[in-house]
Amino acid sequence: MGVGHETDENQTAALDWRAGGVPVSARFDDPYFSIADGLAETRHVFLGGNGLPGRFRPGFHIAELGFGTGLNMLAALIAWRQGGQAGPLRFTSFEAFPMAAADIDRALTAFPEAHAVAGPLLTAWRAGARRVESPDLIAEVIVGDARATLPRWPGRADAWFLDGFAPAKNPELWEPALLAEVARRTAPGGSAATYSAAGAVRRALAAAGFAVERRAGFGRKRHMTVASLPA
Ligand SMILES: C[S@@+](CC[C@H](N)C(=O)[O-])C[C@H]1O[C@@H](n2cnc3c(N)ncnc32)[C@H](O)[C@@H]1O
Repeated sequence: MGVGHETDENQTAALDWRAGGVPVSARFDDPYFSIADGLAETRHVFLGGNGLPGRFRPGFHIAELGFGTGLNMLAALIAWRQGGQAGPLRFTSFEAFPMAAADIDRALTAFPEAHAVAGPLLTAWRAGARRVESPDLIAEVIVGDARATLPRWPGRADAWFLDGFAPAKNPELWEPALLAEVARRTAPGGSAATYSAAGAVRRALAAAGFAVERRAGFGRKRHMTVASLPA
């Protein structure tokens, strides 16, 4: 791969479990989602930050850095269904260290609403597939270091969920060169959102061509970042 850690399809994320059922990455020493309420945080940061569900339209394509438990994808799918959209939501996520299916299953039990719609994801994952297709969702998880896989991706997303672990712990997923690749793979008028308000992240997004805005964060986090490209 040439950059960063070597990854392959057989590398599975090693976890510790915190009280309350929150998985913590042993490699990055960081939780996969908010201990307070991961689903509410996803809705505030990634859906709200990207103007969703309001911007949904047929063929809408979300892309993500860091698939983790799939919670963000499931939150987007729930919003897509509630909005009564015709046809499937398209979702592409980049993940270097896929979690084992049993760990995803266990993590999602903390969010009954998301777990209730996770059947097709869990079935695919248990079979070793990284693609989920149902009448209202076409999802693909591209396994490998995003710094190597994203530059080869021919797609373009309408909205990005930038969800690496904390920049101090997982700087690979916030590198300016990678965020420039994100901008190149964003449709005109498209957007990106992240829970992080780190100055380096904001500057990298601005250097990549995004108009960057700081908004109120979720819970105890004072700020988050949203970014958009001209239409
Ligand atoms: C905070 S978690 C993502 C949580 C996830 N969005 C969810 O809904 O559960 C960050 C993810 O980024 C992944 N990751 C870290 N470095 C990466 C890299 N260089 N390329 C791709 N994925 C990476 C981790 O393995 C982890 O799954």
